[in-house]
Amino acid sequence: MCVQPAFIMGTYDEQGNANFAPTTWVSVTWETDHYLVVISMFGTKQTKTNVERSRMLSVNLVGTDMLRLMDYFGSRSGFRCGKNGVPYRYSDGNVLKVPTLDLSKWVYECEVSKEVETGDSKTYFCTIRDVQVEQTIDISDGIDLTAFNPVIYSGHYHSIGEHLGKIGDFYKES
Ligand SMILES: Cc1cc2nc3c(=O)[nH]c(=O)nc-3n(C[C@H](O)[C@H](O)[C@H](O)COP(=O)(O)O)c2cc1C
Repeated sequence: MCVQPAFIMGTYDEQGNANFAPTTWVSVTWETDHYLVVISMFGTKQTKTNVERSRMLSVNLVGTDMLRLMDYFGSRSGFRCGKNGVPYRYSDGNVLKVPTLDLSKWVYECEVSKEVETGDSKTYFCTIRDVQVEQTIDISDGIDLTAFNPVIYSGHYHSIGEHLGKIGDFYKES
């Protein structure tokens, strides 16, 4: 069991066709002066082939209103067929040539900085080149995740409960 955030990766193939695939093996780490998004992919898939070629991808947070889309994108490979069986809209990234999902309330545009192979999987350490945040959500006082209504994955799909507080709200030195 591992509590995982749900994202959908957006890439373009060689012909410029957009492709999207759910990925929940996603985390972050710190370089010397910036964050890296850490994304792990196993086996062979269109997304991996596209990333290997272009070295870039969009990382779209999945809200509960995107579950049908996530299920659909995860049920087929861009290798064998296009993924146009469910309606959705996408745009070009602000700074990178990546497709971004219009429905997502938080989107990173990422470039691969480093990769590590472990058996059948590859982990990409990605530099964030741009962040698109839903404009109606106020993040000036930090992130209240409930406003994004993200999907949490652990074999099954879940939503999150209450906003509990900030670091330091629950333990203070006396
Ligand atoms: C909820 C969910 C989470 C997934 N997480 C990952 C993941 O973290 N890494 C991965 O390699 N594949 C993951 N997959 C599988 C890919 O999304 C799936 O193989 C997809 O069909 C690949 O499409 P593509 O060939 O068009 O890239 C996940 C699928 C689902 C439904």
